[in-house]
Amino acid sequence: MTMNKLMKAVFIESYGSPKVLKYAEIEQPAIASNQLLVKVLASSVNPIDWKLRKGMLKVLSGNKFPIALGFDISGEVVAVGEKVSTFKTGDSVYGMVAFPGGAYAEYAVVEERSLALKPDNTTYEEAAAIPLAAMTALQSLRNLGKIQKGQKVLINGASGGVGSFAVQIAKVFGAEVTAVCSTKNLEFVKSLGADRAIDYTKQDFTDFRATSKMAGADSRPPQALIKYDIVFDAVASSSLSRCKNILRPQGIYITTLPIPGAILDIFLTSFWAGKKAKLIVLKATGVDLAYLKELSEAGKLKAIIDKTYPLAEVAAAHEYSELGRTVGKIAIAI
Ligand SMILES: NC(=O)c1ccc[n+]([C@@H]2O[C@H](COP(=O)([O-])OP(=O)(O)OC[C@H]3O[C@@H](n4cnc5c(N)ncnc54)[C@H](OP(=O)(O)O)[C@@H]3O)[C@@H](O)[C@H]2O)c1
Repeated sequence: MTMNKLMKAVFIESYGSPKVLKYAEIEQPAIASNQLLVKVLASSVNPIDWKLRKGMLKVLSGNKFPIALGFDISGEVVAVGEKVSTFKTGDSVYGMVAFPGGAYAEYAVVEERSLALKPDNTTYEEAAAIPLAAMTALQSLRNLGKIQKGQKVLINGASGGVGSFAVQIAKVFGAEVTAVCSTKNLEFVKSLGADRAIDYTKQDFTDFRATSKMAGADSRPPQALIKYDIVFDAVASSSLSRCKNILRPQGIYITTLPIPGAILDIFLTSFWAGKKAKLIVLKATGVDLAYLKELSEAGKLKAIIDKTYPLAEVAAAHEYSELGRTVGKIAIAI
């Protein structure tokens, strides 16, 4: 029996706290004909990584261990399957591995359709911070929100991984952006391009009159009662019913988590015209990654790295992510 070469990786053999994360040598994965093997130079942490680790997605990830974790990768192609036509060995790439992960490793298997050439103007850590979070923001605003130039868009959770990309992408589409975050991140979200910022520790952004007053107080003439075309709730802390008063008649509330109330709202509002609720379910595509590369190289999109951890310290990176205070993204250097 032949054995693949060994590599360092982070994986779990049971669900649980960050302590279940094992950093050890395992066999390098083998590729199928439509896949590539990438020497991973950086990854990044997304909340789904620690939700998987805790067993919150057990119904999808099952009980067959070990499970390698991590979705985002950037690195160099070292082998290509015979049906792969877009990439060759030596290419610098970035993208996402398939569920349930495997990016926290020295080598990862990636499908051709979930990969693109890495932006030329980023470090590997910055590139690996983009795929999952930025594609979520892009697909939420463009595919679900049908975002248009001049629209008013509110982004809740604007300082986090998804939110920090959403602010930048909404500006690319020519929207007027209101960002919701806590006091310490007000200047940060404005630096990303937000036209105004609401401090959720002082102001309920779903309070129509108060929000309008607040926005008007912020460096521009008072605006009469702002209503939004899109509310993108990147941290899923609100709901369509709470946001109804701040949405325009055809306004769309987009959330990131399939909590029961949101599912009911999505189901009910699909039957009639008017305000809608929608849930983003990310689908990784090379086309979107190529578009995000273009934005990055044009200076319109930047991954903000809060902290960087080495592969051996993914447990500490998970502990930090679970605090829910990440500003931008957490990178893993490999
Ligand atoms: N459905 C999908 O396909 C999909 C894809 C990607 C992500 N998600 C989900 O989307 C959620 C967000 O992901 P993420 O990567 O952006 O997470 P994250 O980076 O960990 O979010 C942290 C940020 O959230 C902010 N925050 C926390 N509580 C808040 C609140 N009540 N109001 C406003 N901001 C708040 C924090 O800012 P402060 O410190 O200022 O509070 C922090 O900057 C996660 O639950 C993730 O699992 C779903």
